[in-house]
Amino acid sequence: MTTASDPHVLLTSPSVARNREPILEILHRVLPKSGVVLEIASGTGEHAVYFAAALPHLRWQPTDRDERALKSIAAHRAISGLPNLLAPLVLDAAEVEWPVRHADAIVAINMVHISPWRATQGLMAGAGRVLPPGGGLYLYGAYKENGAHTAPSNERFDQDLRRRDPEWGVRDLEEVTELADRHGLVLAERIAMPANNLSLVFRREQSF
Ligand SMILES: C[S@@+](CC[C@H](N)C(=O)[O-])C[C@H]1O[C@@H](n2cnc3c(N)ncnc32)[C@H](O)[C@@H]1O
Repeated sequence: MTTASDPHVLLTSPSVARNREPILEILHRVLPKSGVVLEIASGTGEHAVYFAAALPHLRWQPTDRDERALKSIAAHRAISGLPNLLAPLVLDAAEVEWPVRHADAIVAINMVHISPWRATQGLMAGAGRVLPPGGGLYLYGAYKENGAHTAPSNERFDQDLRRRDPEWGVRDLEEVTELADRHGLVLAERIAMPANNLSLVFRREQSF
């Protein structure tokens, strides 16, 4: 039997402790005043706990497609006892069918470069389906701009990702923006973040 505090269930990621505060600063500003935030690729579940605690006026819906991640999210959630943190759902961004039909905002942190391109295609299609007009899609991660890496560390990171899986890799901001556009999502904000990462805020067009 496993329990919520089982170290094999409860995953942790060192990057979460580094990026959660700067990300929260942006989320405070760009997320709606009420409603459900759908988090895609929640990973360990640490972001979900941190953001749900800091944003008690929102309901936070964590998801992932990976079984180990889902167990970890559930364990972190159980320990937190947060009433606005919903039970995790299985969601593969690449799938056409999502278990959620409506979300007031979507957050996806460090997924676009650590998954095949079809996951980003599915993410944009899904955001186009479930967000209301004006609803925001928040992305965080490393991106190339104008076809080039923005820092040597991002280039090394890209090479490392592609070695681990040839379908992964740091994406071109322009390609992501064009893809978003095809699903009625317009890039509203590009915010430089620590360690050569970007925050991107897309907004669903009013009429699409
Ligand atoms: C690097 S981790 C990031 C996790 C977390 N967002 C964070 O920043 O710590 C990438 C996550 O993407 C998830 N993922 C990969 N492909 C996915 C897909 N097609 N749909 C949903 N999640 C996916 C993985 O299971 C993993 O949890």
